[in-house]
Amino acid sequence: MFDKQTLKKFETLETPFYYYDLDLLKKTLDRYSNERDRYSYHAHYALKANANERILSIIKSYGFGADCVSGNEVSLALKMGFNSKDIVYAGVGKSDKEIITALNGGIFSFNCESIPEIEVINNLAVGLGKKASISLRINPDIDAHTHKYISTGRAQDKFGISPWMFESVIRTIDNCPGIELTGLHFHVGSQITDLNVFELLCIRINDLQGWFREKGLLLKNINLGGGLGVDYSDPDAFPIPDFTDYFKIINKNLEVYPGQSVHFEPGRALVAQCGTLVSRVLYVKMGKGKKFAILDAGMNDLIRPALYQASHKLQNLTSNGRLMKYDVVGPICESSDRFGKNILMPETGRGDIVAIRSAGAYGQVMSMRYNQKPLAPEYYSE
Ligand code: LLP
Repeated sequence: MFDKQTLKKFETLETPFYYYDLDLLKKTLDRYSNERDRYSYHAHYALKANANERILSIIKSYGFGADCVSGNEVSLALKMGFNSKDIVYAGVGKSDKEIITALNGGIFSFNCESIPEIEVINNLAVGLGKKASISLRINPDIDAHTHKYISTGRAQDKFGISPWMFESVIRTIDNCPGIELTGLHFHVGSQITDLNVFELLCIRINDLQGWFREKGLLLKNINLGGGLGVDYSDPDAFPIPDFTDYFKIINKNLEVYPGQSVHFEPGRALVAQCGTLVSRVLYVKMGKGKKFAILDAGMNDLIRPALYQASHKLQNLTSNGRLMKYDVVGPICESSDRFGKNILMPETGRGDIVAIRSAGAYGQVMSMRYNQKPLAPEYYSE
């Protein structure tokens, strides 16, 4: 929740805007890095979750590398001072220009998703007189039990290389002087709340590693990606995900061989809870058997509810009225522009301030100018 002073500040500002609680961000990072360091694991923050420069520089100061999915993310990570040797780069569709940016940046690893991609990276690396370190992003055929649009590790998904292709991948790499195979990479989905998924993933990795070891291929690093979920329904009760249990499960189940390093790519779990989209109620309008609370923030500012049927906690911060039910919607000309149905809020009227919680991950970065709306600015607790 927000203290009186913060609320006062909100009342002076034009809405909608993103608000970041940097104190919570730092506590979250502190907790994560303690657990990470307990096992000497390496973590690369997934810039795609929130690429705000102020947030990036705080994250960097807690010893994170960067996980990128575009040439521009690689450039941003370098500009923000992330060590190039701590930058990993995934994505099924890396363009030549993006690959060259990463090669020139001297990144730690390309997480490669197909044979044609490996061949292109090889040609570009040879052309530049460089050798690219790559990890194979494996599609382990694991169901992450999350929304289908953010499941990435099932056989039918576009991501990664399936085990039946390993023979030909290795043959390809043998003919690529510009490529050095250094590891395996996995990322099976996002907003994963069932920790068994990570246990299954470890068991599958142990099995897959066996194949490479039999061929005499020693892999220096194993990257388990990101995916740990957050509590969207009660962000105040659970502001920080359970990193202790998460890493315990990995440590217990993953076989790590001497000389191997273990890597992670957390995004959402680090930044979701510190962000709030703050809006004002424009109108309350009667509908058939219901009331609509129409906000000035919409799917253009936070697309998660419209795209993934995601639910974010909604709070009227300024009314003390009796509880009533509202469909809380945005101003955009789409019926999917809805933050929640039948939401209990104190009696709501024009000008009330409504907070849309847990919006720090995949909020501002996915916002857009649909309907020619301006992009929401951001403010910080400090
Ligand atoms: N590594 C790779 C290769 C990824 O593709 C992702 C996220 C991550 C790490 C970070 O995952 P996280 O720890 O944040 O779950 N826009 C969606 C989420 C898309 C996730 C894409 N990849 C949403 O709003 O739910």
